[in-house]
Amino acid sequence: MPRFLETPRLILRPLTTADADGPYPGWLNDAETSAGNSHHVYPYTREQALEYIASVRGSRSTLALAVTLKEDGRHVGNISLQQIHAVNRDAELAVLIGDPACRGKGIGAEACEALVRHGFAALNLHRVHFGTFENNTGMRGIAMKLGFTQEGVLRQAVFKNGRHVDVILYGLLAATFNAR
Ligand SMILES: CC(C)(COP(=O)(O)OP(=O)(O)OC[C@H]1O[C@@H](n2cnc3c(N)ncnc32)[C@H](O)[C@@H]1OP(=O)(O)O)[C@@H](O)C(=O)NCCC(=O)NCCS
Repeated sequence: MPRFLETPRLILRPLTTADADGPYPGWLNDAETSAGNSHHVYPYTREQALEYIASVRGSRSTLALAVTLKEDGRHVGNISLQQIHAVNRDAELAVLIGDPACRGKGIGAEACEALVRHGFAALNLHRVHFGTFENNTGMRGIAMKLGFTQEGVLRQAVFKNGRHVDVILYGLLAATFNAR
């Protein structure tokens, strides 16, 4: 399996069609895993996973990677820079640590730091941004840790678990990240 990015505990590698038969589709069908994101509204199928994997292969607008543990190769999440814009040199960061045992151990932050670093150092991005639910303490913690600035609030923008929740917008400039 080709490794693409490496951190102390993780290998970030390209997604393969075999991943559609692993734990990945299950993450998007799990209410708890999706409590802080927009998934788990309609079922997510193996076929949709295969379509996604095919759509990002060779893509220049989405760089999607599997987050795997160095210790045993286990696929524990996915991460991407998406909507990569060649003129603005901006991209959206998205991450999902699907394996519940791997959450809250700094793995999300470790993966995000590596991909954001790659975005600035290799893709020549100027800015990385994302939006997250007000109650997503993990994503908000990652934003703080990596030096993102809160740029705005989309009030009651998403309907989740019976109520509309605010989406907090974060942005990070290359200069800010590189000065850390
Ligand atoms: C959100 C998510 C990516 C965070 O990844 P993670 O590996 O669990 O988070 P980390 O352990 O790297 O934590 C990053 C920071 O967030 C904070 N944090 C994480 N979990 C927290 C919690 N439950 N409560 C309070 N703060 C928390 C911590 O401050 C931590 O910083 P520290 O290492 O300096 O203490 C992951 O939990 C996940 O995928 N959850 C489900 C899907 C999801 O919500 N995705 C995001 C959609 S926008």
